[in-house]
Amino acid sequence: MLSGPGSLRRAHFGPLSAFLALWLLSGGVSYAADSTPEAAPAAAAPAAAPPAEAPIDPQVARGKYLTDAGDCVSCHTRKGGAAFAGGLGFPTPFGTLYSSNITPDNETGIGKWTAADLRKAMHEGIAPGGKHLFPAFPYTAFTKVTDQDVEAIFAYLKTLKAETYRPPANSPAFAMRWPMAIWNALFFKPGRYVPDASKPAEWNTGAYLVEGLGHCSACHSPRNMFMAEVQERAYAGGAIMDEVAEGKVRRWSAVNLTSAKGGLAAWTVEHLASYLKTGVSDVAGTFGPMNDVIVNSTSKLTDDDVKAMAVYLKGLPVQENQGQPVSGADVQAGAEIYKKRCDECHGSSGSGGMFTAPPLAGSAIVQATDPASLLNVILYAPKRAEGISYGEWETMKPYADVLSDAEIASVANYIRGSWDNKAPAVKPADVAAQR
Ligand code: HEC
Ligand code: HEC
Ligand code: HEC
Repeated sequence: MLSGPGSLRRAHFGPLSAFLALWLLSGGVSYAADSTPEAAPAAAAPAAAPPAEAPIDPQVARGKYLTDAGDCVSCHTRKGGAAFAGGLGFPTPFGTLYSSNITPDNETGIGKWTAADLRKAMHEGIAPGGKHLFPAFPYTAFTKVTDQDVEAIFAYLKTLKAETYRPPANSPAFAMRWPMAIWNALFFKPGRYVPDASKPAEWNTGAYLVEGLGHCSACHSPRNMFMAEVQERAYAGGAIMDEVAEGKVRRWSAVNLTSAKGGLAAWTVEHLASYLKTGVSDVAGTFGPMNDVIVNSTSKLTDDDVKAMAVYLKGLPVQENQGQPVSGADVQAGAEIYKKRCDECHGSSGSGGMFTAPPLAGSAIVQATDPASLLNVILYAPKRAEGISYGEWETMKPYADVLSDAEIASVANYIRGSWDNKAPAVKPADVAAQR
């Protein structure tokens, strides 16, 4: 089957083999844990003395804003390394692909690039010399960004301190790049965002940001066996791998972002805007790979822009979750554990509370067809993002050492089948897979 989170697991390798499969198995996009980099070097920050000149070039200022919107820094900064100097590993079963140095160093970075070179990379996935880039670099989304905006990003990148740093060599499986030409021909539609004249300006702004620089679909859309996003199920939910420690990856499910019952039906535009801007809303807080997305990217956007993104997301065509919902005795088996372990914060009706925890009734995390993120939360507890205030909420503890696989599956099924929630059953083996 094309869609559905299962497709990210192991697919068989056709003759096109490794490269496509690599991207496929890597989960496409993966951020290293704790990759939150130090702040990008500011262009110029004259201290107390009256700044004689150095007015910030408006194109550079706009470029910085757009670079934030594209979250370039999360992927292009290795742990402990200089911002934008690259070297963050994208682990795959075949080895590792590393992000590039995009500081203006002449030898190891993009110092010799022209604005046209960056346009070709972002719009077509092709670097100077005809080098095909792998779509772990989300050019499939960046192709929507206007020429003018790419040029502003280029102007900003040029103001960064040149860092001489060469990322480690990719694993040999990544040596050949030409198969990407075939992949592009089959699955990639280059082209700038075309505003929809029948929609309000705000909706178009949101669409431009979500579909383009925000590359939200890179994680939130299901992919087919060649790792291309399944357009007919756009934003229905996807999966990614996150490196949690050297050589250790953890699978996450990225929820259904459409307003389906098992998606964001319970979220208002205000909830979404608040979540993207501050990391928290009344209905949920960030705790996984969204930490980097929010801290490094969406929290830096203007209130108007995050609201526009929320408006666009709320208008997405609804995609219902798939699978036979768990029911009956399979649901009730977990009632006792819930009462003992979860009730005090999430409430007997799953409605949470302002001073305790977010609701589980109507939660997209709880109802995701692929339970990976739900199980991560229960096993390892929500990982709070630095710099984000979770208000009056209590702190949830990890249950990995407290509950067995069967017990966690049981309580997961209880919350997946109660209070009008609907989602397929979780098996103990699913829990074991997340350990
Ligand atoms: C989801 C992770 C991710 C994000 C977000 C991302 N990149 Fe990258 N980028 C990569 C990876 C991985 C590579 C290496 C690809 C390869 O070697 O084929 C790369 C390669 C590049 C290259 C090619 C450099 C070269 O020397 O060949 C450029 C330029 C680039 N990225 C710019 C950007 C800019 C600008 C942004 C933000 C607008 C950005 N990237 C956002 C992951 C990312
Ligand atoms: C690197 C992959 C990735 C990218 C890029 C990404 N997301 Fe997510 N998203 C996730 C994962 C994984 C979760 C599960 C919860 C978490 O990480 O906190 C999630 C959860 C969410 C949630 C639901 C939170 C909840 O608790 O129910 C919303 C809303 C969301 N993302 C919106 C967005 C938007 C909008 C964008 C684009 C600006 C985006 N995401 C980009 C991976 C991603
Ligand atoms: C001490 C209070 C507390 C207890 C007990 C608790 N939680 Fe939580 N839980 C929270 C808080 C607070 C959050 C919000 C995320 C954060 O803290 O970053 C949360 C988040 C969650 C989420 C993510 C919801 C979403 O939509 O984003 C799930 C799922 C969850 N908890 C399930 C459980 C289960 C199952 C149990 C029992 C095994 C449990 N929790 C016990 C406080 C608690």
